[in-house]
Amino acid sequence: MNTQILKQQAGETAAQFVESGMVIGLGTGSTAIFATRRIAQLLHSGELCDIIAIPTSLATEADARELGIPLSTLERHPRIDLTIDGADEVDPDFNVIKGGGGALLREKIVAQATERLVIVVDASKLSQQLGTNWAVPVEVFPFGWHSQAAFLRDLGAGVVLRDSGEDPFQTDQGNIILDCNFGLIADPARLSQTLNARAGIAEHGLFIGMARDVIVAGAEGIRHLRKA
Ligand code: A5P
Repeated sequence: MNTQILKQQAGETAAQFVESGMVIGLGTGSTAIFATRRIAQLLHSGELCDIIAIPTSLATEADARELGIPLSTLERHPRIDLTIDGADEVDPDFNVIKGGGGALLREKIVAQATERLVIVVDASKLSQQLGTNWAVPVEVFPFGWHSQAAFLRDLGAGVVLRDSGEDPFQTDQGNIILDCNFGLIADPARLSQTLNARAGIAEHGLFIGMARDVIVAGAEGIRHLRKA
């Protein structure tokens, strides 16, 4: 089945979890956008009301504004009831690699402030072990970034500076991204801690133990995986 249709099914299914009165986080990417669009439809039809949304990127903010979803900030609403976001790879413990679109820092800030993080993916994103299909995006401050690249190589990663044509890709915070291929990641929580401890790394795309639900759309239908 067409991947776009699967993404749409996953995103729209997750939108059903939104309830009137909630503060919600709006994820970034080509799957989460379907949840955002569906939430806008439900608001306009009156099936949902009193929603306040916190976007996870400037791109999502622009989409939500255009769709007429009421927006706020974490300064005004530091606690979020529900966030729906995409992922690049998901393991059986619901550990996730994110950041394919470069929004990982804001996505993680929003996820940390969220009571219930729902990940929406097509079935190709599932794997038995993180690192099977995707490198870990690491967002680093421009100052001294070559030192961070060397540090990451010493950890065993193949490191690629993400670019957007001629120039390095720039995140919403003005940082750069090093895509780090660690191969199969035996202990994602430990790698996450190692990356957290390094000055110069603003954030990384390993989301450990954060997701409570995963909505997976595949050829055999839609599955709702719940954290035990
Ligand atoms: C954005 O930076 C990412 O974390 C996305 O959520 C992730 O890359 C999934 O994107 P797609 O739904 O477009 O595959």
